[in-house]
Amino acid sequence: MKKVILTGGEEVPALGLGTWKMGIGEADEAGQIEALQTGIDLGLTLIDTAEMYGDGRSEALVGQAIRGRRDPVFLVSKVLPQNASRQGTIEACERSLRHLATDRIDLYLLHWRGNHPLAETVEAFERLKRDGKIRHWGVSNLDPADIRELLALPDGVNCVANQVMYNLAERGIEWDLLPDAQARQMAIMAYCPLGEGQLIDHPGLVALGRRHGVTAATVALAWLLARDGVIAIPKSRSAARVRENAAALSLTLSAEDLDELDRLFPPPGGPMPLAMT
Ligand SMILES: NC(=O)c1ccc[n+]([C@@H]2O[C@H](COP(=O)([O-])OP(=O)(O)OC[C@H]3O[C@@H](n4cnc5c(N)ncnc54)[C@H](OP(=O)(O)O)[C@@H]3O)[C@@H](O)[C@H]2O)c1
Repeated sequence: MKKVILTGGEEVPALGLGTWKMGIGEADEAGQIEALQTGIDLGLTLIDTAEMYGDGRSEALVGQAIRGRRDPVFLVSKVLPQNASRQGTIEACERSLRHLATDRIDLYLLHWRGNHPLAETVEAFERLKRDGKIRHWGVSNLDPADIRELLALPDGVNCVANQVMYNLAERGIEWDLLPDAQARQMAIMAYCPLGEGQLIDHPGLVALGRRHGVTAATVALAWLLARDGVIAIPKSRSAARVRENAAALSLTLSAEDLDELDRLFPPPGGPMPLAMT
């Protein structure tokens, strides 16, 4: 398993599992649990969820999937911006712990920036850390200016990750956010690594994958895994597709492949607004 080293030295898997739109009352929840457990068995032990996803029902599904196997899992959840006040963050975290049926969240993120001052959220994160309810904290959907503001706050440098949209079709962060994060060893968690599924039919990716005997999804994830300090969190409700995604760990793209991908999906030529869902 390729690993990403967090500030402080802890290593986490560079390929994990997303859970958006999982556990929201569909008929195949047993299949979704099986998909997550298949991922864990394959070493995709970083699981990303959020209080927002199905109003806690995705967290509850994750709680079921990790029952009896909590220790190998690196659990990520997120507080909604409207809850991210000094006291609201603590209460949100305690709700998430109940949904997840665990005593700690390994990485707790601010889902996106809202009206509560970042300083209050950071204070709450630090208190949750001291109380053993979370082990690390980070942010999501923060652009370079937000990150500068965060880093200037007391304890702001303790932020270990920024989760942002990053995939072959959305490469804007390569201009500034990604190199800055790499320089300070702040992990970038790439959400929508498959472009919410839209990359899987891209003819150029399908053709490149065919040459390696893999699918377009595998290629799109292998491209992300080739970057330092990047953690990809594809979501799939199917064990078979989780296996296909895990195959990215064994695919090494050649310099020619990477050049071809640059032609198909050009890198940014200047600063771009942060892409968001
Ligand atoms: N911080 C944020 O604001 C934010 C925003 C968006 C997402 N996220 C996180 O990032 C995770 C990933 O993003 P995402 O779920 O939006 O998009 P994604 O992972 O890019 O794509 C998910 C879509 O691709 C399909 N898929 C997955 N593997 C596939 C494969 N091998 N072949 C074909 N189709 C495949 C899935 O369908 P099936 O499930 O049917 O396989 C689903 O429709 C989320 O689940 C969530 O945890 C965070």
